[in-house]
Amino acid sequence: MATQSSQWNNNTAFLLAATGSAVGLGNIWGFPYKAAENGGGLFVLLYIFFVITLGFPVFMAEVFIGKKGKSNPVSSVESLAAKSNSSKKWGIVGYAGILASLIIAGYYAVIAGFVIDYGFISAQGVAEGTAKDIWANQQSTFFDMTFWTVLFIVGSCYVVANGIDAGIDKAMRFLLPMLFILVLAMVGYGAYQGDFNAGINYLFSWKADDIETTGQAAAIVQAAIGQAFFSLSIGMGTLMAFGSYMPSSQKVSKASGVVVTADTGVALLAGLAIFPLAFGLGFDPKEDAFGGSALVFETMPEAFAQLGVIGQLVGPLFFFLLAVAAFSSMISILEPSVAFLTQKFSMSRMKATGVILLVCISLSLVSIAGHNVWKDVSVGALDNPFEFMKYFADDFLLLLVGTGMSVFVGWRLQKVIDADTMGISNTTMMNLWVFILKWVSPIFLMTIWTLGNLQVLFEYDLLFEIINLF
Ligand code: PHE
Repeated sequence: MATQSSQWNNNTAFLLAATGSAVGLGNIWGFPYKAAENGGGLFVLLYIFFVITLGFPVFMAEVFIGKKGKSNPVSSVESLAAKSNSSKKWGIVGYAGILASLIIAGYYAVIAGFVIDYGFISAQGVAEGTAKDIWANQQSTFFDMTFWTVLFIVGSCYVVANGIDAGIDKAMRFLLPMLFILVLAMVGYGAYQGDFNAGINYLFSWKADDIETTGQAAAIVQAAIGQAFFSLSIGMGTLMAFGSYMPSSQKVSKASGVVVTADTGVALLAGLAIFPLAFGLGFDPKEDAFGGSALVFETMPEAFAQLGVIGQLVGPLFFFLLAVAAFSSMISILEPSVAFLTQKFSMSRMKATGVILLVCISLSLVSIAGHNVWKDVSVGALDNPFEFMKYFADDFLLLLVGTGMSVFVGWRLQKVIDADTMGISNTTMMNLWVFILKWVSPIFLMTIWTLGNLQVLFEYDLLFEIINLF
């Protein structure tokens, strides 16, 4: 086995690394556009509800597996399975997490590549009315995209190759404070320049009529749950890996609480930075391009264009914020597979990172091609390989792994769970946590998973059919 430090020597390292992981493109790029696509206030309420009731308990389950198993995601699950007389096959949960993390890495880096590219584009200034064409053009350039994507992957691998202390801990100590300052600066600017009230109204008011018109209750619930899990970095092995480096004195519940709160806070702040600015400049989520990547790569550059010269400062600042958030998350996406290779195959960290670097670049090329050369190559019901990778990792694997961990901890590890590791001394709280893991989260996640996949893969709206029976 490779000899290297397998534990952080301080209590803040986990908090910084897990927060850096959680706060990413999911918060600043994903959350606002998903809120916009799914009716604003209702989505936000559901999102917060699911973060508390399902996200937080499953987050703790994942960290617990890592902290108790003290190894990479696969070995941690396998050794805990052995300890609890369970089948070694539970290791599949760890493998599926690693698979998901690699696929995410493959498409996440591409969006991050766009972000860096847009930092430069917005610094040069975007003429009013041209943002849409620029965005279409940027997506069509296979080689440009590859350049920025590979740059981003190499940078993240460099940090990971340096290990958990000199690499990850050190980088996070620098990246995270910067991230918070940048988010606050953007919120401040949005409040000063934009229509703050309109933004708040949009984010926090429950608009029942929006739901009737869209008639998509199930889809909204699914989007809110998926977003909550993705944003909290659940289900990719990241939290197991980081949990395994936790010092023994650190308690799972408290540390998880801090990270979950910070992540949710930043998602809401990102909404508060983006919507006031967009509304202030007269955008309408129902008419303008608010969906998908368009919010950040079309609407925001257009907003910056309208600010004139100031936009050439605010724009790059915004994309710099996104790049920092993406970078600290990418590091955490790479860690599980690198840890897996070093421990399972006794590879040096350098070599393991090299292997993962190549895997990531290969996957990212597929996802880049999904924007241009393979734009119309549909994979099953999905439009192109990029959409497929996103769907397969975020919607398909993530909820499966989340359910697997929940069931594993709730049903198989009852004798292994100890109040001290968890830092939960109140037995009612402990029972509630186990109850959620045993029943609530598996039933709920699998229902959503089934409904969602039927709809996406087979275009079969089961819920709609059931409602129509009455
Ligand atoms: N949580 C990160 C984000 O919001 C993405 C991520 C997912 C990171 C899974 C690590 C593991 O962007």
